[in-house]
Amino acid sequence: MNIIILAGSNRKAATSTLLSHYIASQLKEKGVTARVFDLYEKPIPFYSPDTESSDANLLEMKEALLRADGIVLATPEYHGSMSGVLKNALDHVGFDYFDGKAVLSVSSAGGAVGVSSLQQLQTIVRNVHGINCPEWISIGGEQRAFNDNGEPADAKTKARVEKTITYFVKLVQTVRH
Ligand SMILES: Cc1cc2nc3c(=O)[nH]c(=O)nc-3n(C[C@H](O)[C@H](O)[C@H](O)COP(=O)(O)O)c2cc1C
Repeated sequence: MNIIILAGSNRKAATSTLLSHYIASQLKEKGVTARVFDLYEKPIPFYSPDTESSDANLLEMKEALLRADGIVLATPEYHGSMSGVLKNALDHVGFDYFDGKAVLSVSSAGGAVGVSSLQQLQTIVRNVHGINCPEWISIGGEQRAFNDNGEPADAKTKARVEKTITYFVKLVQTVRH
């Protein structure tokens, strides 16, 4: 099983990206091939319907999405929505990349929770024929702290993330079979 995690922040020390790496580590512990595609490290050009871009980062992201059995979309909560860089990356891809694949939405918010971005991500997933994971992950406020091992510092947050990852892996297995 191969899962790609699209880390949708344009900030170097983003907590949504730290969470993405923790999710990848949890997936790897379950024997899953997992990769974080960090949109800060690999920026994608602005989508334009007028041109087909051959940008190297874009082609790499498309290839990774095509090969994935399951997809995780991680975003900072910005103005009650997802980040611009994640939305832009998603505008480049459609049915071919998502159809029949389970998708987990993940957010990090300054407030207690960031579910507006998660709801909007799930709308996009439905529109590209992905299968929304009924569980999702939102970390907010104090829950955004990570220890030196890259684990959520708060034990309850850590347990909640791990439970959701277990659920998501089962969903990916079910959908792919
Ligand atoms: C432009 C902008 C808009 C934001 N809007 C919200 C918001 O609507 N709700 C919220 O809870 N936090 C909001 N925040 C705070 C971020 O969600 C918070 O800093 C979060 O940790 C960002 O994720 P990151 O650590 O992955 O960068 C906003 C931050 C910025 C920079």
